[in-house]
Amino acid sequence: MLLFLDTANLDEIREIAAWGVLDGITTNPSLVGKEKQDFKKLVQEICKIVSGPVSAEVVATDPEGMIREGRDIAKWAPNVIVKCPLTPAGLQACSTLSKDGIKVNVTLCFSTNQALLAARAGAYFVSPFVGRLDDINQDGIGLIEEISAMFAVQSIDTKVLAASIRNPVHITKAALAGADICTMPHKVFKQLVSHPLTDKGVESFLADWAKAKDSVGAIAAK
Ligand code: G3P
Repeated sequence: MLLFLDTANLDEIREIAAWGVLDGITTNPSLVGKEKQDFKKLVQEICKIVSGPVSAEVVATDPEGMIREGRDIAKWAPNVIVKCPLTPAGLQACSTLSKDGIKVNVTLCFSTNQALLAARAGAYFVSPFVGRLDDINQDGIGLIEEISAMFAVQSIDTKVLAASIRNPVHITKAALAGADICTMPHKVFKQLVSHPLTDKGVESFLADWAKAKDSVGAIAAK
């Protein structure tokens, strides 16, 4: 399962990209709005930092507007992916843009049948929202599992991108449920690496090394 960051913040992206494990970026209008920067310039900057797919969302609500915006966004960088919502207009835009050879991430997916529609419209990614389903007492990871199983049975190429991730347990469960990609906030990405026993272990190894380093150094020099 590939690991994406769900952010438009350049500092957060640079920090995780430096680890060498960042496969791509997803943004949405709420995340871009927080950065108070020109949308196109921001996406182009992100696309320079990360060589993997970078999703940028249309804001028109009619198919013609979405197609127009999508064709424009697709020219911003070679690794940009156009994001469209899972509405009738979004499906129409996805269908047209996909036929043009533009990769589309169909977002705001909350059911298996919606995912099937996105796939039929030619989506490159479909993004089921795990956390927002959990929030209303529905099984977000269960949806990832069902979509992944259906795509496998039906030999559908559309990639399942688990979104609206709230905690590290979601990541493990999304991977086990068959998600191709998981996108997560910066805070959750950092939680993935952190473990108190790792910190404690490094501390005690270094303390032991400091005590023994003269004799160890002398042995190594022989
Ligand atoms: O980018 C879409 C999605 O990941 C949003 O997550 O936490 O706002 O439900 P959230």
